[in-house]
Amino acid sequence: MSGKKVSVWTSITFWRRSAAWVTGTAVVLLMWLTFNTMGQIAMGSDEDLENGVKKRIPAATVINYHIDYKMDEKRGHEVPVIGEKEPFFGKEWSADEAAALLRHGKLTQQAKNCMNCHTLLGNGAYYAPDLTKAWLDAKWNDGTMTGITGKETKEEAMAEFLMHPSQFPTHARMMPDLGITKDEAIALVAFLKHMSAIDTNGFPRNFSQSAKRLEGGTHAR
Ligand code: HEC
Repeated sequence: MSGKKVSVWTSITFWRRSAAWVTGTAVVLLMWLTFNTMGQIAMGSDEDLENGVKKRIPAATVINYHIDYKMDEKRGHEVPVIGEKEPFFGKEWSADEAAALLRHGKLTQQAKNCMNCHTLLGNGAYYAPDLTKAWLDAKWNDGTMTGITGKETKEEAMAEFLMHPSQFPTHARMMPDLGITKDEAIALVAFLKHMSAIDTNGFPRNFSQSAKRLEGGTHAR
């Protein structure tokens, strides 16, 4: 050992300790973030909906409520706003019925591979319109789709479209008939309605165009 004073920057012990502290802090931070995220993405309950408690992912029974898409000035983008109760395919669905319907819709969505053409919550293809907020798309609210399908309500019009898309083309590209049954169509519409109620921090961004038109709309159901 020479009596020379060694600079802290060249001390191996200093760097070892620093590495241990940085790793330790990062582990604690990541654990906290993981638990925080789990809380944020946990699905809400029917009681939350009844009591007006906002959850990023509402319960399946959100299909029993009217859903709007409104500008939140503070956050700088539109957010889903859950409104009054409204019948869905002519009735109010119990928590069990709604959960089963949503599950059927999700499985059908996977079986028919909607993501082969569409995007859902950021996953999928860009051949066809993004489906994340499809339920809120102006054309289902302004009477266009109820008009051309001859159905009275928005959900019936959407189910009719899903069963026979080639009969009701509204884009330059046409959706092919996928052999979707009535039950599957109802479940898919529930799946789409629930997805539109998820707070996705304003994504997809380009959707607001049609949502703006929705604001003054008539909400023909
Ligand atoms: C082969 C590609 C393809 C597949 C697979 C497909 N679609 Fe489509 N879909 C399209 C195209 C193209 C359009 C636009 C055509 C139109 O609106 O007439 C469309 C339009 C739609 C619309 C209207 C969009 C809106 O903004 O209102 C909905 C809802 C929809 N599809 C749901 C589904 C669901 C649910 C599935 C899975 C069961 C599915 N699609 C599978 C191609 C596809």
